[in-house]
Amino acid sequence: MPLRRAYCLSVAAAIALIASPLSAAQNPERVTTGRLLAQSLCADCHTMGGATRSDRGPPDFAAIGAMPSMTALSIKVFLRSPHANMPDVQLDDQQIEALTAYILDLGGK
Ligand code: HEC
Repeated sequence: MPLRRAYCLSVAAAIALIASPLSAAQNPERVTTGRLLAQSLCADCHTMGGATRSDRGPPDFAAIGAMPSMTALSIKVFLRSPHANMPDVQLDDQQIEALTAYILDLGGK
């Protein structure tokens, strides 16, 4: 009976939503996606929690994530605007969510 099935699915979805204790930054799948994106799109300039390259300007992602001023909101706002010398990378909403989660996770948030 299709109607009953749809009802069950929506109840399951509602329970999953309420029961999920994960914040955006702690969502492991999102963090993994963000790491892969960062490695392919951002690693030319940024380091990812390794030794900061002294010969390059861009800050390390772990250092960015650990900055008190860096919240999910401020990172998302930042990623929506082009930044210094950054080639015109157009990030969609899901990529921004994933990169934000990854940067905050690196920063221990
Ligand atoms: C061509 C080099 C380059 C690339 C590629 C690049 N960045 Fe940057 N990024 C910089 C530089 C330089 C700065 C510091 C100056 C500034 O804030 O504009 C910076 C700053 C930042 C900051 C803010 C740090 C702060 O203190 O406000 C964030 C967040 C950031 N980058 C994220 C990213 C992400 C995510 C990517 C990949 C999608 C990326 N960047 C790709 C060069 C780059």
